[in-house]
Amino acid sequence: MENDIKKAYQPNEFRQKGHQLVDILADYLERSQNRQDIPISALIPPEEMFAELNVDLSRASTDPIEVLYKTLLEHTTHLQHPRYVGHQVSSPIPLSGLSEMLTGVLNGSGSMYEMSASGAAMDKIVVGFLLQKCGFGESANGILTSGGSLGNLTALLAARQAMSGFDAWEEGVEGNLAVMVSNESHYSVSRAVKIMGLGEKGMVKIPTQDDFRVDTSKLEITYQEALKQGKKIIAVVGNACSTSTGSFDDLEALADFCKKHGLWLHIDAAHGGGLLLSDKYKHLLKGIEKADSVVIDFHKMMLFPSLVTAVLFQNGQTSMKSFTQKADYLAVKEGADNWFDFLNRTIECTRPMMGVRVYTVLRTYGSQAIGNYVTDIIDLTKQFAQRIEASNDFEIAIQPSCNILCFRYLPSNGEDINAFNAKLRLKMLEDGRFYIVQTTIRGQIYLRVSLMNPFTTIEDLEELLEKLRELGCRM
Ligand SMILES: Cc1ncc(COP(=O)(O)O)c(C=O)c1O
Repeated sequence: MENDIKKAYQPNEFRQKGHQLVDILADYLERSQNRQDIPISALIPPEEMFAELNVDLSRASTDPIEVLYKTLLEHTTHLQHPRYVGHQVSSPIPLSGLSEMLTGVLNGSGSMYEMSASGAAMDKIVVGFLLQKCGFGESANGILTSGGSLGNLTALLAARQAMSGFDAWEEGVEGNLAVMVSNESHYSVSRAVKIMGLGEKGMVKIPTQDDFRVDTSKLEITYQEALKQGKKIIAVVGNACSTSTGSFDDLEALADFCKKHGLWLHIDAAHGGGLLLSDKYKHLLKGIEKADSVVIDFHKMMLFPSLVTAVLFQNGQTSMKSFTQKADYLAVKEGADNWFDFLNRTIECTRPMMGVRVYTVLRTYGSQAIGNYVTDIIDLTKQFAQRIEASNDFEIAIQPSCNILCFRYLPSNGEDINAFNAKLRLKMLEDGRFYIVQTTIRGQIYLRVSLMNPFTTIEDLEELLEKLRELGCRM
């Protein structure tokens, strides 16, 4: 029995370890919500971390599993802590984590209906929920995939197939196909363009205004200039919102422009798609209903664990045409368009039952609860911006539109402002009482927060400013 893998399947072993883990995580949630678990991000040197975990994996360890759980909890950034205000990674709703445990044990394939009928139906319902929120029509369809980066690629592959004027999938890429993208696009968009074989020349950058939104007055001239260079523009990519500053492009203006020139409009709403659930802020996504494709990450503003991304298509048929590949053993007929033939629409073959995480949470708590959270967290970000503006030692980069805010400390000692803020952020990391990040905006270094946790309060954020002042004074 010692070396028999069947031991790992014993129901009682699972029951005992499962209960133990849930208890550990429940205590962890409690400590986090009580603002314990400091430091939030423990900066253990990489070599030390590696050495601690680098055991002989060919033999069973004699340590109880709790020891490993403890190491994991200790050396991870505590996203469940209200003072985690760093990257755009959510403090996930715990039930979605439990649902992941369920799908992890069942391991039904999210790609084939006959491998998981319930999972497939949940995928369809979750996708349908967002299609309806976007205001897409009857012929719309979509797919869940692993992350916004893969989502952007999936959408742009469909754009290439629909708009290039030839069968790029069968014949390969030819000509000077190009995509117009905002200067502020996420790097996954340029990667997608390059993966599609269009190269750097396949990216036509649209200038942005002072508020980091696409300058719509420059769309026409950018387009005409590209045509003069012999490029064939197939698509325009809009941000909803941009990564660095959380700025929302004017989607209506982009849609009008695309309609005028017969171009595919793709909206990267990986981050800001959650605003569709907020009665107060959904107006920032006006025009999304006219897009040809949209990418929305459930794992950003909507509080789900990584990764669940929806790729939505105005015309579901176009998404079927991106990958028309034969794989006889998979029992999916080429050209078939059953709603459950997910394999035809996605890059992934084996796919987890990802809709389950979302469906179980929406069914249990209702999307309105998440929508209210989205409203509250944006309100809080705006309130924080006001507090910063009222101070005389910090300034914001621009007014926030969602839960992302860039700001910087104004050193009074005449030190270089960029070097000072970069150093200040490192000091904050070392201190560990908050977790914040930094970004560079037009050559200037700013501190950046993304409020991703329903328990963060204005008092937490005021304390963040105080802590930064204290650290700044000591530098
Ligand atoms: C606007 C935008 N698009 C795409 C992505 C990539 O999404 P993912 O990290 O899920 O691949 C991000 C990630 O931050 C983003 O902010």
